Amino acid sequence: MTDVADWWQTDIIDMAPGQIRLRGFPIEDLIGNIGFAEMVWLMTRGTRPDKAQAALFEAALVSAVDHGPQAPSIAAARMAVSCGLSLNNAMANAINMLGDIHGGAGEQAMQFFHDVKAQAAETRLQTAIETVFQAYNRLVPGFGHRFHKNADPRSLRLMSLVEAAVSAKVCDGGFAEIALGVEHFLANLKGKPIPMNVDGVTAVIYAELGFEPALARGLFCLSRSVGALAHAHEQAGRKERNKGPTPPHYRWTYGGANPIK
Ligand SMILES: CC(C)(COP(=O)(O)OP(=O)(O)OC[C@H]1O[C@@H](n2cnc3c(N)ncnc32)[C@H](O)[C@@H]1OP(=O)(O)O)[C@@H](O)C(=O)NCCC(=O)NCCS
Repeated sequence: MTDVADWWQTDIIDMAPGQIRLRGFPIEDLIGNIGFAEMVWLMTRGTRPDKAQAALFEAALVSAVDHGPQAPSIAAARMAVSCGLSLNNAMANAINMLGDIHGGAGEQAMQFFHDVKAQAAETRLQTAIETVFQAYNRLVPGFGHRFHKNADPRSLRLMSLVEAAVSAKVCDGGFAEIALGVEHFLANLKGKPIPMNVDGVTAVIYAELGFEPALARGLFCLSRSVGALAHAHEQAGRKERNKGPTPPHYRWTYGGANPIK
């Protein structure tokens, strides 16, 4: 039987009839005693956060749940429902919309911060940022926003929580310092604010808490799933059919041969 049992190997879950253990903890001890954010931490990392770590982590998860139907992920969920898809399909559509440019930049932002940290061991912070900025094709993931041009309210609030967490010695603030340095660098470069966006600020928190960059995008997906579910459910109640991206009396700009006058 060993070759069959060894087909899937995991450190996450053990199960026998009448018993379920997640990361070594009996499920009945977790249920009712652990919050959902703590559960995400336990499942993805195999350890349990203390209360202060869990609170900061949960704040990051809360911040990214929704950005309205203008956000392509949410629009995709609502359009899917209007086309007759079920809620799970609508949620999958929303998640599939999250890539390097919309909602998925957190992983790259974390990597950017780690690269700056490595460079900063050799040189001053602003020089390290400039060097890594050149290597990333002069675009910093996690900064800039289509709507929040001066400041993203999520970033301001979360950075204040990070500051409090640093004072309480929950984390050391090294990645927050890098992110603020990047904001300063971009503002100087462009002559206007290119503020930290929700991917950037949650990347700060995930990095401060010791998450691997590869997990950031999945964590964003967990957050945005909540918004996608709420919007898909609401849209299902509206009984509208086959909604496209714009009202039908608007059309696209045709640039090919023989335009209709
Ligand atoms: C989100 C995004 C597409 C908004 O772009 P935008 O609407 O063109 O942004 P703005 O009009 O405010 O910025 C214009 C200028 O700042 C630059 N800029 C914007 N974001 C930048 C960034 N993250 N790094 C470097 N430069 C940036 C633009 O290249 C442009 O420069 P230019 O005037 O020399 O051409 C863009 O900021 C971006 O791609 N950010 C990185 C990816 C990311 O974090 N995505 C998640 C968004 S929630």
